[in-house]
Amino acid sequence: MTNGTDDVPRTGGAAAGTPAGSAGALPGTSSVVRRSTDSGETTAANRRWWDWAADSYQAEHGEFLRDVGFVWCPEGLDEADVGLLGDVAGRRVLEIGCGAAQCSRWLVSQGAVVVGVDLSLRQLGHARRLDEATRVCVPVLQADATRLPLRAASCDIVCSAFGALPFVADSAGVMAEVARVLRPGGRFVFSVTHPVRWCFPDDPGPQGLVAVDSYFDRRPYVEADDEGQATYVEHHRTMGDRVRDLVAAGFTVRDVVEPEWPEGHERTWGQWSRLRGRLLPGTAIFVSIKPACHAPSYG
Ligand SMILES: C[S@@+](CC[C@H](N)C(=O)[O-])C[C@H]1O[C@@H](n2cnc3c(N)ncnc32)[C@H](O)[C@@H]1O
Repeated sequence: MTNGTDDVPRTGGAAAGTPAGSAGALPGTSSVVRRSTDSGETTAANRRWWDWAADSYQAEHGEFLRDVGFVWCPEGLDEADVGLLGDVAGRRVLEIGCGAAQCSRWLVSQGAVVVGVDLSLRQLGHARRLDEATRVCVPVLQADATRLPLRAASCDIVCSAFGALPFVADSAGVMAEVARVLRPGGRFVFSVTHPVRWCFPDDPGPQGLVAVDSYFDRRPYVEADDEGQATYVEHHRTMGDRVRDLVAAGFTVRDVVEPEWPEGHERTWGQWSRLRGRLLPGTAIFVSIKPACHAPSYG
């Protein structure tokens, strides 16, 4: 994500802004810029990047995520402890940007009826591998979060742990899709990189403590090849933007959780570290509800 520069050629170290970790830049990447990019370019770049990075992502983070476990963020917040989704037993749950579906697998183990979607076939291949290893199986679909292949009102809960939301040009479109597939009274909970982190270089050390970019600069972070074609994209939304997108899609925001860095937690994940986590929020988790019925509007 943010690197404190515009149009500065750079290679390697890509994608530290999300919990993608240290996979680095797609071969052929030669520059990092902040520039506008549309949904088509974003989706094509990120599908290719995640297919390429999936193996190293799972090798690096699989142990922390656990094969059957719901970890919301690099701070290690565990759904088993916080219950942000409420009671999941018997509920129909959709996870978007599920990766290897560790979260979905935990939900299945708790009695939920789950489906996971992800853009990357390679990530979903890891889901199959973990299904076989754990014997806890999750149905998954390859799909873009902006076009969910589910019927209207077919889910009780939609969740996402750093999946899809940071990677789409049309965040409001995803909110609208989620609102469509949720039943009235359903819940939507998702985690993303805390927007304030976009002011700082993606450095887990002291350099990552000095603000260099404007929080209000919404231009996406784009890695590109020699032809200027995007090889990886992340989109920035401020806290207010996120709330506004949710409200525009008809949600009521119940909570915004900013997990603190826990005592004794020493693991560095990309830009997330103890040093920074004790001073700055690293993750924002939005808890929202689709109202059971809408108040009539007059006039
Ligand atoms: C940081 S990973 C998170 C995966 C999983 N929740 C975890 O914690 O490991 C982000 C995931 O979002 C997926 N993704 C990116 N853009 C997407 C989109 N437009 N629609 C669906 N999934 C997407 C990626 O393929 C990747 O698996």
